Amino acid sequence: MAGKIKTIAVMTSGGDAPGMNAAIRAVVRTAIFRGVKVKGIKRGYMGLLNEEIVDMEARNVSDIIQRGGTILGTARCLEFKQPEVQQRGADICKAHGIDGIVVIGGDGSYRGALALSRHGINTVGLPGTIDLDIACTDYTIGFDTAVNTAMQAIDKVKDTSSSHERCSIIEVMGRNAGYIALWCGISNGAEDILLPEKYDYNEQEIINHIIASRKKGKTHHLIINAEGIGHSMSMSRRIEAATGLETRATILGYMQRGGNPTAMDRYYASIMGARAVDVMLEGRTNRVIGYKNGQFVDVDIEEALLMQKNIDEYQYEVAKMLTV
Ligand code: ADP
Ligand code: F6P
Repeated sequence: MAGKIKTIAVMTSGGDAPGMNAAIRAVVRTAIFRGVKVKGIKRGYMGLLNEEIVDMEARNVSDIIQRGGTILGTARCLEFKQPEVQQRGADICKAHGIDGIVVIGGDGSYRGALALSRHGINTVGLPGTIDLDIACTDYTIGFDTAVNTAMQAIDKVKDTSSSHERCSIIEVMGRNAGYIALWCGISNGAEDILLPEKYDYNEQEIINHIIASRKKGKTHHLIINAEGIGHSMSMSRRIEAATGLETRATILGYMQRGGNPTAMDRYYASIMGARAVDVMLEGRTNRVIGYKNGQFVDVDIEEALLMQKNIDEYQYEVAKMLTV
């Protein structure tokens, strides 16, 4: 298999994440180092269908390791879910001499990669998402930067919230997963953390908690609300009405997806990008690269897509204990 792979391509797909550029750079340079040609596919599966395919040289990825976003661009391309469109994608790869593709994205992007692999294109996935919601890995490219960006923003809101003795609801991203919320909840010392995996929608419990905390002398009440629960604005109005305390909601939004990647995201993305190329050249294809129990690993795409992940019970308990 390794002997057959002469040209590979790299694409970013789904939501962008800080560190994707470091991964692209590592894929391009590892391929060149190993004597393999490398192409860049712009705008994810949409760019593939539009044949937005360019040759990549080592100098094309100069000076990008520190930049957020993705130099290849990314897109959501719903038509790629259709079997005939997937066949066309594979045909385009073959026409461009592409033997394998490294797809940097989340679970949705891996489903596209799996479809391509069924049409004879070797694929390796890299976990690129700020949400940390990929089951086969404890680390995803972009999570560390996003959670640090959110944490710093929340510190600032907490300062003014304390001065004004207000209650603050801060909504963080994560789609249906609560990892950014959990990490910020613990790292910012939130009084309540609302995670899609755990929240029972008992708002009265939050109200009682706010009133009890105030009686204990707390000057602010910080609630981290995950995007998967949402409705922070209406929640703040209801809490203000029930507690009589000024309550403000802040939705952090897309700022969490941008910015210069942290050292962790640059480092892990670089190792994973190199690993993706090496795994493909070793003939282990249709894999997803992950980081599990302190090791970089690769997992079959289909198995990876079947895996489940959940919030760690003890970590969630710690979040609650520390608000005592
Ligand atoms: P992520 O990769 O971050 O999970 P999405 O779920 O938006 O993001 O998926 C990114 C892209 O992957 C989609 O826009 C689409 O092009 C492709 N994709 C998603 N699901 C499938 C699927 N079931 N089959 C084929 N391609 C898919
Ligand atoms: O997956 C990353 C993410 O930022 C999620 O946290 C969020 O739900 C989603 O993407 C937003 O997607 P879009 O860029 O399509 O609005």
